[in-house]
Amino acid sequence: MNAPVFSFTDNLDMGRVADFPILSRPVRDKRLAYLDNGATTQKPQSVIEAESKFYLQSNANIHRGVHWLSQHATDLYEEGREQVRLLLNAANSKEVVFTRGTTEAINLVAYSWGRSCLKAGDEIIVSGLEHHSNIVPWQLVCEQTGAVLKVVPVNEDGTLDLSVYKQLLGPRVRMVAIAHVSNALGTINPVVEMTRLAHAAGALVLVDGAQAIAHQVVDVQEIGCDFYAFSGHKLYGPTGIGALYGRYDLLQSMPPWQGGGDMIRTVSFEHTTYAEVPQKFEAGTPNIAGAIGLAAAIRYVRDIGLDNIAAHEHALLVYGTEALQTIPGLRIIGTAPRKAGILSFVIDGIHPHDLGTILDMEGVAIRAGHHCAMPVMTRFGIPGTARASLALYNSREDIEALVSAIGVAQKLFGVER
Ligand code: ALA
Repeated sequence: MNAPVFSFTDNLDMGRVADFPILSRPVRDKRLAYLDNGATTQKPQSVIEAESKFYLQSNANIHRGVHWLSQHATDLYEEGREQVRLLLNAANSKEVVFTRGTTEAINLVAYSWGRSCLKAGDEIIVSGLEHHSNIVPWQLVCEQTGAVLKVVPVNEDGTLDLSVYKQLLGPRVRMVAIAHVSNALGTINPVVEMTRLAHAAGALVLVDGAQAIAHQVVDVQEIGCDFYAFSGHKLYGPTGIGALYGRYDLLQSMPPWQGGGDMIRTVSFEHTTYAEVPQKFEAGTPNIAGAIGLAAAIRYVRDIGLDNIAAHEHALLVYGTEALQTIPGLRIIGTAPRKAGILSFVIDGIHPHDLGTILDMEGVAIRAGHHCAMPVMTRFGIPGTARASLALYNSREDIEALVSAIGVAQKLFGVER
């Protein structure tokens, strides 16, 4: 693991807890240690205010009205698109399509590109550590087109077997759909190299950025991918908003996937023509307030600096890994050399769900189960894990609360330390 480049207080605290009102509420009469950031992050005051200010002062429908409020709301929404472009370093804001989140963004590509471009015998590569959102849409499109899914195996440490990946990259592969960061294990995949190899084999690349976007700098031009998907709610933004980055020429060539208002140019019963990208993919009234809240979230993280956030979370990951390794009977699942702030583990004699419930009684919020990544659990021969996932507001104190709550659980289960 690389050394952190950020300087910290003794508590490994970025000093940002006060920005997040919910973090000061007790849970079950205990101090809240919120360690379920892989599922969703908490929201800073600036995001909450941006959404509420929109409804208080600017609410109107967009792209439709001749009146001032509509034009104002449209400007705010499109400013959100520009913030996403900046976050991803996309070349053009027309390459940013707003979606409900990562899942919808991947489904958009599978449905629009997949159904129009794939034919029987074509191949799609995913990896063995994908979230169900980056498996099932491809399985659906395989059922419809006769394309075939190929899977890159996962090594014992949670990295991908790149030698098998290279072998899989044959002439029939049309798409490689890969997680930037594994939600279940924390592995950071080598997406730059994997993209380069896929392109050399003539395949497109979609990167599922759900677990990367809030934790490191993401530059789609540097990765070189064709599509990148992420969710706002994992980036300190609202739920129900996310984005798909797509290369402009590809988005232009793809057919619409949902029909309705805002995605058309002209409609007649004989012939309908479609709007330019990105509107072509945004049928119906979108989540306007969500896009504005997302813009506030992006300003918030860019203001702190994603490099600084990455360094902070890495230092906590190192601290947390060392602390958990001292606990007898605990095994960390996912020990890749390049990892994001995810600590997934199992404990002898305690089912992850029971552990999650007991930790909750101690004010420690984690996720327990298969994390919507059942093939990873099958790979490791376990029903699930307990997962602590980090964010910029976490501190050493949260890790210590986790370790102490695990001690309570081990006592209760008679698995004394
Ligand atoms: N995909 C989210 C997680 O990993 C919900 O928890």
